[in-house]
Amino acid sequence: MKLDNRKTDDRAIRVREVRRELAQGGPARTRNFDGDFEYITLPERDCDLLRDCLVAENVESVVEVGLAYGSSALAVGEALVSRDHANPQHVVIDPFQKDMWSNVGWDLLCSAGLDQIARLLPTLNSEAFPQLIAEGFVADAGFVDGSHVFHEVFLDLYYLRKIVKPGGLVIMDDADKPSVRTAAHYFEVNLGWTELSDPFADGTWRVDNDPNGASLPRCRAFRLPDVFPEPRSRDYLPF
Ligand SMILES: C[S@@+](CC[C@H](N)C(=O)[O-])C[C@H]1O[C@@H](n2cnc3c(N)ncnc32)[C@H](O)[C@@H]1O
Repeated sequence: MKLDNRKTDDRAIRVREVRRELAQGGPARTRNFDGDFEYITLPERDCDLLRDCLVAENVESVVEVGLAYGSSALAVGEALVSRDHANPQHVVIDPFQKDMWSNVGWDLLCSAGLDQIARLLPTLNSEAFPQLIAEGFVADAGFVDGSHVFHEVFLDLYYLRKIVKPGGLVIMDDADKPSVRTAAHYFEVNLGWTELSDPFADGTWRVDNDPNGASLPRCRAFRLPDVFPEPRSRDYLPF
């Protein structure tokens, strides 16, 4: 085994251990609500599928919205250290990590050794994204699990369209919720985003967010087009 490969394996093993401990034992601190961790965090199976999707895409840089308990961030981090990338980068946006989540997600990233490749922007999405654009930051993929209010999700997707490279991926949690689903639908109908059919087929499906009781996948992945035509307002398609 080459030295570099061994280093990559060691880092991924360490992240996997922290992920397993979190999934089995829960976080060191939670908010004062029964079952808050299970309610808030991305389930382990969906985290595995998120990791696998990013590894399959050979993703080296990811911007993520919403750290909370850190399950999804650890999965993203595992993907980034699983390949022998020259400069893996993980930007995590969460204005409430300290005050609402007692830094538990960030502490987990640190204990997994992922602070070497991750940075936390402790500001609102509406402030963090313009900062990243001003820096010239380009991501291979985005993962969205922040505010689920329609206009905040729309804003996440608006900015990710500028930050994620052409042909890159945007993955969303809670994509079955009407607010998230509707925001995503605009980008599908009007801006050429196409859904990947496979990555989350074996993940969580839910029936309670569809008026017709249809079973919908919790997570969905979209590929951005290779060229980004700026649409004309008169070409707008209702969605
Ligand atoms: C559902 S939780 C994320 C769960 C996380 N993915 C996990 O696996 O534990 C939503 C997160 O979005 C953050 N958030 C809420 N509003 C936000 C905003 N306007 N900008 C950025 N993050 C926001 C919250 O602080 C919270 O950490």
